[in-house]
Formats: sequence, structure tokens, C-alpha cells
Amino acid sequence: MKRSTVSERALVLAPRGRDAAVATAMLAEAGIEADACASLPELIQRLNEGAAFVVVTEEAITTSNLAPLSSWLADQEEWSDLPFVLLTTRGGGLERNPAAARHLGLLGNVTFLERPFHPTTLISLAHSALRGRRRQYDARARLLALRSSEHRFRTLFDTMDEGFCVIRFLDGEHGPLSDYVHVQVNAAYERHAGIANAVGQRVRDMVPDEADGWVALYREVLLTGEAIRFERKLIATGRFLELSAFRVEGSDQPEVAVIFQDTTARKRAELELRELNETLERRVSEAVAEREAAAAQLVEAQKLETLGQLTGGVAHDVNNLLTPITGALDLLHRKYAREDPRAARWIDGALQSAERARLLVSRLLGFARRQALETRPVDVAGLLDGMRDLIASSIGSGIELKILSAAKLKSAVADPNQLELALLNLCVNARDAMPGGGEIRISAHEVIVGSDEHIGLSAGAYVRLSVVDTGTGMDKATLARAIEPFYSTKELGKGTGLGLSMVHGLAAQLGGAFILSSTVGKGTRADLYLPASAENAPMAARYMEDVSVSRFLKILLVDDEQLVRDGTAEMLRDMGHEVVAVDGAKNALATLEEGGHFDAILTDYMMPSMNGAQFAAELSRLDIGLPVLVVTGYAGGDLEISLPQLAKPFRRSDLAIALERLVGNKTNVVAIRQRQ
Ligand SMILES: Nc1ncnc2c1ncn2[C@@H]1O[C@H](COP(=O)(O)OP(=O)(O)OP(=O)(O)O)[C@@H](O)[C@H]1O
Ligand SMILES: [Mg+2]
Repeated sequence: MKRSTVSERALVLAPRGRDAAVATAMLAEAGIEADACASLPELIQRLNEGAAFVVVTEEAITTSNLAPLSSWLADQEEWSDLPFVLLTTRGGGLERNPAAARHLGLLGNVTFLERPFHPTTLISLAHSALRGRRRQYDARARLLALRSSEHRFRTLFDTMDEGFCVIRFLDGEHGPLSDYVHVQVNAAYERHAGIANAVGQRVRDMVPDEADGWVALYREVLLTGEAIRFERKLIATGRFLELSAFRVEGSDQPEVAVIFQDTTARKRAELELRELNETLERRVSEAVAEREAAAAQLVEAQKLETLGQLTGGVAHDVNNLLTPITGALDLLHRKYAREDPRAARWIDGALQSAERARLLVSRLLGFARRQALETRPVDVAGLLDGMRDLIASSIGSGIELKILSAAKLKSAVADPNQLELALLNLCVNARDAMPGGGEIRISAHEVIVGSDEHIGLSAGAYVRLSVVDTGTGMDKATLARAIEPFYSTKELGKGTGLGLSMVHGLAAQLGGAFILSSTVGKGTRADLYLPASAENAPMAARYMEDVSVSRFLKILLVDDEQLVRDGTAEMLRDMGHEVVAVDGAKNALATLEEGGHFDAILTDYMMPSMNGAQFAAELSRLDIGLPVLVVTGYAGGDLEISLPQLAKPFRRSDLAIALERLVGNKTNVVAIRQRQ
């Protein structure tokens, strides 16, 4: 019988006489289709085509081989239990008829009807058999539907890409519902979780270290019935999983179903991407910060440069104005000091002001890097030694002074006078930062600067002169501006704000660097880097205290500015020297060629057409063996002269000393070096 057959006909097996015909007629009368079968084999064949029930006479089955029927019945599908109506022989009640009991065993679902019977009895039995059979058909339909859904579920379960399992909660040693066992697991489970043969395994045996977490998550689902979706690492196998879990409804067991996927690769890619993004962001911000810092530095450098140019220009002009002023004042002083004390006081006052102006201008020139420097190898340790008393008296007794110089320190290329000034400036700053006392440590060491150190120095050996104090320190804003000319935090009249500008300018002009670092409340460190010299410094120079002129000289004075020239000539004559004054190098050379005899030449540096250095070079070329003193004010760039110099504006005494040194040392003759 086909699975879908819903046959409602009756089959009748009553081989004797007219029994079959009578029975079929009765059934037909009641509206039930009925077919008579001639033999048991025919019955079995017709049964295979489909039937609702069978009416059979007792004789038909007692005389036949029942094995085929019995096996047909045994082979029925689970929903089917074919009803029989057995027409027994008269008086053949069950209790008196042992054969009937056997028939009951063979046919199963059988109703006995004793002959003769009333037609109504047969019809009612037939109807109830038919109804019973209909219910079996219904059961078959439901069974089929169930099977197909189960089949569908199986196929899905086995072929789905996600891992799937059903877990059943158990009461474990950690309490009720504290463990679960894997009841069902699909093929993808192992692929995603990395664990084989999960069915039958308890989570506490499977992943003991992390079982608590998994149990807690799924027990919540079991107890609340709320499905969850989450991501979690299965530590045991190192997999990142994306999971969803829901309670298995309609089950009489405490079960939860879990669907999950291995997302390790995606997670890794995400992590890598995030890391990449972060490093990229960091690198970009580092690069931006670097660039900003470089730009800020450039702006700072440009600002200082511009200020330097401006300052240098102004200072030069002021210097030229100051020279005749001081010269004239000196002369006036000599002339009137004795006769007119009041005039002498005025002149003194004017001279003092002029002196202050001179100092100011020299610091401005220092910042502008236009100082006329007399650079030579300087024994820094010796210089520090010589300054100890001066520094100690400048800083007062409340501050401890320590001076440390490295042994066998190389000489530094510097102008000793300017270096002393710079050092004094730094010490005074340190003193001012320590009103309540403290310590100043001055040290000198040799340092080697590599090409990758960005402190604005080219690679090489330097002498580093450090002044470290334990004072108030500077905040960022002050530190950033400290070097600026005229920047001062000191009260009006106390600081010009030119101290550090001068130190910075000096360092730059010498090919070194000046670096300030400071921490508020801790103190300040000032490092002055000076190029180390290949030569050694001569013994510390002795300053001449005696200003009196030891002999009268004939001096050739060269200056293009009449006011300055006249003033200087007057000073020289006042000292008793004989002076020939000319307005330029050309006339000077002409005068010399004419055969005039001179003891020394005093020449201005800045002159049109031929400057002091060029003039000196020309003298050297002509082999005129005369000592030359160059009066400098504004050296006009990075110029380094190894000739004796006298800085403008100068006092009578400065001039006297310079001349004395010049003629006392005949080797100081014309040798000039111009820096590249
Ligand atoms: N050692 C230091 N400790 C704390 N602040 C300092 C130190 N040195 C310099 N400064 C700060 O830098 C500013 C500028 O210093 P700078 O030497 O150029 O000028 P000044 O000392 O104010 O004036 P001047 O040197 O002309 O007397 C100071 O006013 C001060 O604020
Ligand atoms: Mg200062």
C-alpha cells in the first residue's frame, strides 16, 4: 500500500457458499465499498493496494496457510493496525473456542461476530472499523509530517556551516544546574570549536578552567528563556567565537541550543587593523609634532636673526655717534677738571652716561653677533680660576660657589673678554634667581657632539661651560623667551634683558651654542658650548694696569669719518703722540709710499672701498713691517681678525693701553684671516 493511499473499502474473504456475496451486498447497502476476495493470497495482494478493514470467516483462516498473512501484518508500518471483523461459527464464543483465541493473537485488531448475525450488527461493526482505520490514516499523515520535519532538521543540522549543539544541564558538584553535557553536536562543531567528540562530554571535564563562565551564561538562558548573542574566547583552544543560545522549548529536559562560529581570523584581522591604525595615528601625530616643533624653532631663529640685524644696525650707528662724544668729553674733562669743579662734575656725569651707553651697545652687538671678537685659544679652566673672586663678590655671601674644571681640559676658541662677560651674566642671573640663597655650580668639560645630536651644533669636540643654579627656575613661557633681547622679568631698571641675548649671540658667533634648560622650583642650567681648539692657549694674559704712556709714537691714523678721526687724533695728541690723519686706506698707502716714517698704524675697520682688514692685507703684501691696531665697532658679519683690536667707542685709557700693547709686541704685525 502506498504511503498516501487512503482506501475506505472493505475486503471480504468468505470462500464458502454465498457468504461473500451476502456480506458485500450488506456493506454496499450501508454505503461501504466492499470487494470479495477468493483466497487468502488474493486478499494479501488486494491488501497491498489498500483497504480500510477486512471481513473474514473463521473457516477461511482455519483452512489456509496463514504465514503470508501473519508476515504481512507484522510488516505493517507503525501507524497501521488493520481492523478485522471475524465471522465465527455458531456457538463459537471465545471462551469455548480455543481457535478463536489463536485468531486474536494472529489478527490483533479483531472483532468477533457470531453467525447468524443481524445485518445491523455487521454494519455497525464495519463502521467502527472504518472509523478506527481513518484515525490510523490521520496518524500516518502526522507521522509523515513529523518525519519530514525531522529529516529537514537533520539535514540542516548536519550540513549547516555554523557549529551547533544542544546541551543539557545537570546538577553537578558545584550545585544544581552547575554542569552540562553535550547531547547533540553537529559536524561543524569540531571545525569551529576545535574540540572533537563533544557528545557526552561535560563542560567541567571538557574545559575545566573556564567552565564557570560558560555555565553561568547558558544557565541564565535556561532559567529566563531569553536568547542571547555574544562573543567570547574559548580559551582552551584559543578560538574567538560568536555565539547565540536559546532554550529548547517543548523539551522535558533542561536544554539549551547553541549556534556558533569561529571568528578568530576576522578578530585577528580587526586587531591587526586597529594596531596598524593606532601606530599610523601615532606616527602621523609624531611627524606633525616634529614638523610643528621644527617650524616653531625656525620661526624663533628667524625672529632672533631679524632682531639681530635690526639691533646690529642701530648699535653701529649709536657707536659711531658715541665715539666723538666720549672723545670730546674726555678732552673737556682734562681741560676743565682742575679749574672748574662744577663743569668737571657735569662732564663726569656725561661720561658715565656715555659709558653706560657704550656697555649697552656692546651687549646689543653681542646679541647681533656683530661683536668684533678677538678669538684665540682660551684656557677655560685658567679663566675660571682667575674669575673666582670676581664671581664670588658679584653673587654675595648667601650663595655657595663651586667651580669644577676637568683635568687637562682642551682650550676653547673664544674671545676671553667676552667669555668672561658672558659667564658673569650667567652668574648674575643665577644669583637673581636665588634671593634666599642656594648654590651655583660652574663646570667645564670637554664633550664630543655626534652628527645625530640636534642641538644646533656640527659634529666635533667642544668645551662645555655650564652654570647650574638651585634657584626659582623658569616656566615654559619664560624659558622660551629668555634669550630674546630686552626680555626681562626683573623689575624696571633692574634688568635690561640683554644678558642672555649677549651670551647666545657670542656662542653663535664663535660657532658654538647656548642651551638653557630649567625646571620651576628646582633651578636652571645654562650650557655654553665652545668649539675646542686644536692649539693650546698661551699663558693667561696679564692685563696692564699702568696706563701711562711709556714712549711717544708717530701714528698714522686712518678713518673715513671726520668726527671720529678728529676726536681720536685729538686724544692721541693729548697723550703726546704725533699723528698723521688720513680719510681712507688709499691715502694711507700713498702716505706710506711717500716714505713717511711711522711707529704704528691705527685704522678703522668699516671704511668704504677698502676696509681695515683689506688695508692690513695690503700692508702685509707691501711688506711694510708696522704694527696695526684695528678700531672695530661693527664688524659687519662673521669676521674674525687675528690683529690687535680696539672696540668702539673707547676711552682715552683704552686707547693708551691698546697702543702700549701694540708697540710692546712687535710680532703683532699684519696677519689676517677671513672666515669662510
Ligand atoms: N638662572 C636663571 N633662573 C631663573 N630665571 C632666569 C635665569 N636666567 C635668566 N632668567 C630669566 O630670563 C630673563 C632674561 O635674562 P637676561 O639675562 O637676558 O636678562 P635680565 O637678567 O633680566 O637682565 P640683565 O641681564 O640685562 O640684567 C630674566 O629676566 C629671568 O626671568
Ligand atoms: Mg641677566
